Amino acid sequence: MVVNTLAYIALLAVAFSLASASDPSPLQDFCVAVNDTNAAVFVNGQFCQDPKLATPNDFSFSGLRLPGNTSNQLGSMVTPATVAQIPGLNTLGISLARIDYAPYGLVPPHTHPRATEILTVLEGTLYVGFVTSDPDNRLISMVLYKGDVFVFPQGLIHFQLNVGTTNAVSISSLSSQNPGVITIASAVFGSKPAISVDVLTKAFQLDKDVVANLQSKF
Ligand SMILES: *[C@@H]1O[C@H](CO)[C@@H](O)[C@H](O)[C@H]1NC(C)=O
Ligand SMILES: *[C@@H]1O[C@H](CO)[C@@H](O)[C@H](O)[C@H]1NC(C)=O
Repeated sequence: MVVNTLAYIALLAVAFSLASASDPSPLQDFCVAVNDTNAAVFVNGQFCQDPKLATPNDFSFSGLRLPGNTSNQLGSMVTPATVAQIPGLNTLGISLARIDYAPYGLVPPHTHPRATEILTVLEGTLYVGFVTSDPDNRLISMVLYKGDVFVFPQGLIHFQLNVGTTNAVSISSLSSQNPGVITIASAVFGSKPAISVDVLTKAFQLDKDVVANLQSKF
């Protein structure tokens, strides 16, 4: 009986640790990512550059100096600074993005499967929000001004709209070296190959021609 209870508790502990899995702790000062395995040491499940070879450039990125080009359908541009741009972020569980918005520019509803996001407005006025999971689907939203901060909890659908008449800029910090992004409209209506129209008409209670129209746009 005692043994069974202990086994059950151990099983629960394993289940909870799996459910809360996130980026691993680094186990060393840093692990600059490399592709050349001849110049690499194997640490913590990743190939890392020999730490003696690390340079300031491994930890640096100048790509956020310039505004992103917002001349597109949405009027926004995200410039990421993740492990793909900064190899020294490997195993450190953090990254950054600069977001530029034209007047009324939109970052459409999307989620980050691996990260919580904390956004700071540098310039402009943003209407931001996220929606809680089923069954409540509660919208938590507000208007942010220069200097304001807002949190998008991990995995929840969120958006940002520039509601001002001038350009806006924000910086987001994310709790993963590789947060990932799922843009809802393009994932659902723009998948390759396309999801069956039967699925989408029933799921969204839309006519077939509306679904076909949405699929053609994404
Ligand atoms: C590794 O190779 C990939 C694909 O060629 C490239 O995109 C990436 O920048 C490379 N990473 C490093 C740290 O060299
Ligand atoms: C911005 O993007 C538009 C559309 O792709 C392009 O025509 C324009 O030249 C770009 N502007 C700059 C400054 O790169």
